[in-house]
Amino acid sequence: MNDPTPPAVDEHRAAELRERLAQQLEDGGHLRSPAWRAAVETVPRHECVRTFFRRSQGPRGTLWTPVVPTQENASTWLEEAYADTTLVTQLDGGTHPADVAEPVHGDPTSSSTLPSLVVRMLEDLDPRDGDRVLEVGTGTGYSTALMCERLGSKHVTSIEFDPAAAGRARAAISAAGYEPTLVNDDGLLGYAKNAPYDRLIATCSVRTIPATWLEQVRPGGTIVTTVSGWLYGSGLVRLTVGEDRTAEGRFLPGTVSFMIARPQAAPPLTGASDLLAQAAEERPTQVGPEILSDWTPQFVAQLAVPAAQYLGMATDGGPMADHLIDLPSQSFASLVPDGKDGYLVRQGGPLRLWDAVEDAIDTWKAAGTPPQTEFGLTVTPQRQRVWLGSPEGPGWDLPT
Ligand SMILES: C[S@@+](CC[C@H](N)C(=O)[O-])C[C@H]1O[C@@H](n2cnc3c(N)ncnc32)[C@H](O)[C@@H]1O
Repeated sequence: MNDPTPPAVDEHRAAELRERLAQQLEDGGHLRSPAWRAAVETVPRHECVRTFFRRSQGPRGTLWTPVVPTQENASTWLEEAYADTTLVTQLDGGTHPADVAEPVHGDPTSSSTLPSLVVRMLEDLDPRDGDRVLEVGTGTGYSTALMCERLGSKHVTSIEFDPAAAGRARAAISAAGYEPTLVNDDGLLGYAKNAPYDRLIATCSVRTIPATWLEQVRPGGTIVTTVSGWLYGSGLVRLTVGEDRTAEGRFLPGTVSFMIARPQAAPPLTGASDLLAQAAEERPTQVGPEILSDWTPQFVAQLAVPAAQYLGMATDGGPMADHLIDLPSQSFASLVPDGKDGYLVRQGGPLRLWDAVEDAIDTWKAAGTPPQTEFGLTVTPQRQRVWLGSPEGPGWDLPT
C-alpha cells in the first residue's frame, strides 16, 4: 500500500532538530568532521522515515506500533525522525506501517539505522572529495542521501534488494533533492556498470566478502562492512583492497550488527527435533551456553562452526536447552544443565560442534580474551580467514 499523504512539515522545526541531532552526534564522538556534520544538518531524514514502527515490549515479545503522521501527531513524528534511534520501516519482507492499524509482531527487514552508527561508519569509510562510493542496503535512503550531500549524487551508487524498500527510498531521495544511481538488485553482486569504486559500504551484513566487491573496488580502496553469521555473532571490519582480488583489514571497535544480506540468511531449521533425537555422546563441558550471548566469544564460536545455527528449545518435555544445529552435516550439540551449576554437552552427527567451539574459545582465552579489535580478516580468491593478533596468528576460515 502507498503511504498516505502526510501533513505539511514544519521545515523551520525540522532544521532545528537536525542541528540538535548534529550537535548530539558530535558531542558523542560519532561525528568527527565538519563535512559530515554539514551533511547531517542538511539531509531531511523525515523524508526517509515518513512512516515507521515504534518498538515496545508486549506480553508475547516485541510489538511494533505503526507511526503514520497526521495533523495531531505531526510534531512528535518529526521529533522521532530526528532522534538517534533506529526506525524500523518494514517487517517480514513486506509489511509497512500504513498497512496495519494496530501493533503487530514481526521481524524487521528494513530500517533507517540509528544516525550515530550511520555517521560513525561514514567517518570510518572516510571517502575523499571526488571518490565514487557503492552502498549495499539503501534501506530508507538516509545514508545514501548523506553521501550524496557530501560527495555529489553522481559519485553515489546504492543497491537495495527489496523492491518495496527500493521504491520508497527512491521517492525519499528524490524528494530530498538527490539523484544517485539507485539499483534494485542483490548487492552481493555489486554494480559493475559504475565500477571501479573507491569505497564500498554495506549496511546489511555478510557471512563472506563477495568476490564481486573485490573486483569492483579499486586496489587501495576501502570496504566497510559487518561480518556476521548464523549464531548472531557480528563485527564491523574495514578492509583495504589489494591487487588480484585480495583485501585485508582489522575489526573496528563497538558492538555493530546489521540484518544479514537476504540471500545469506539462515535456512529454516526443518527436521531439528528429529535430528536432536538422534544418538549422541555426552560429556561435561567447561564452556557453557553463556558464551553464545557475550559479544566477542559469540563471534569466536561462530567462526569455529560457521554453518551452525542456534536453537533454544526444550526436548523430551525437559527444560529449555541451548542447541547448535549444523544442517549441511546433520550434526548437533545440546547443552544441558548438569544439576551442579555446570553443563553437559550432547553431541551427535559427523562433526563435534562443541569441541570446535571449545577449541576456539580456548585459543581466545590463551590470547588473554582480547576484544574484537585484535581480530582481522584476510581475503584472497582462495580463502577468507579471520585471524587473531596478526595474519600469521591463529585463525578460522569464513564459509565459502
Ligand atoms: C539496516 S537497512 C539499511 C539502512 C540504510 N542504509 C538507511 O540509512 O536507511 C538494511 C537494508 O539492507 C537490505 N538488504 C538486505 N540484503 C541485501 C542485499 N543482498 N542487497 C542489497 N540490499 C540488501 C534490506 O532490505 C534493508 O533495506
